Amino acid sequence: MLFEGLRGDLLDAGVGTGRNFPFYPEASKVTGIDLSPAMLGRARWRKENLGTAVDLREMNVMEMDFADDSFDGIISTFLFCVLDAEHQQPALEELCRVCRPGGTIHILEYALSENPWRRLMMKLWAPWVHLAYGAAFDRHTEQYLNAAGLDLVEKKFLYKDIIKLLTAKPAADRDTN
Ligand SMILES: C[S@@+](CC[C@H](N)C(=O)[O-])C[C@H]1O[C@@H](n2cnc3c(N)ncnc32)[C@H](O)[C@@H]1O
Repeated sequence: MLFEGLRGDLLDAGVGTGRNFPFYPEASKVTGIDLSPAMLGRARWRKENLGTAVDLREMNVMEMDFADDSFDGIISTFLFCVLDAEHQQPALEELCRVCRPGGTIHILEYALSENPWRRLMMKLWAPWVHLAYGAAFDRHTEQYLNAAGLDLVEKKFLYKDIIKLLTAKPAADRDTN
């Protein structure tokens, strides 16, 4: 589902250790970026093992070294949960800048469940997740899309009301935002 409808030049933003490699579409040229050399080291190991054709680069998603309109599609999985509130919009602005007009951005993220029992469990779990990964379940990334020049096309929950897939596209008037 993450790569549904995506082909051509693709960006995996916050590629981590490369857990998305097995799902890369064949007819595509994928670039993976990450801030962490250690994560990229493990991604290179996985790339060798799986024989994945991916260009891995050390880069900050908020200051990417790509020209405007470089990618037909962008995916990010559990990147925005590790970005603080003040970094949500700048990161989305960069994704918008490097995405071609008409391109698609898929963002897989956590949501804090509305179910009382699941919500309680997530709140109890949250301090450990923050300590271990700097991650949070309640980043509300979709709230920053419009200000970043993106339109929300679809929001779909994939597991309970905890894992959501956001589909966004650069707004037609993004350059005037
Ligand atoms: C929770 S991991 C997810 C990794 C991978 N996408 C996955 O689903 O397995 C978040 C990743 O985002 C990377 N990251 C955090 N801040 C970043 C930034 N500003 N620019 C690029 N990558 C960043 C981290 O180094 C980490 O590899």
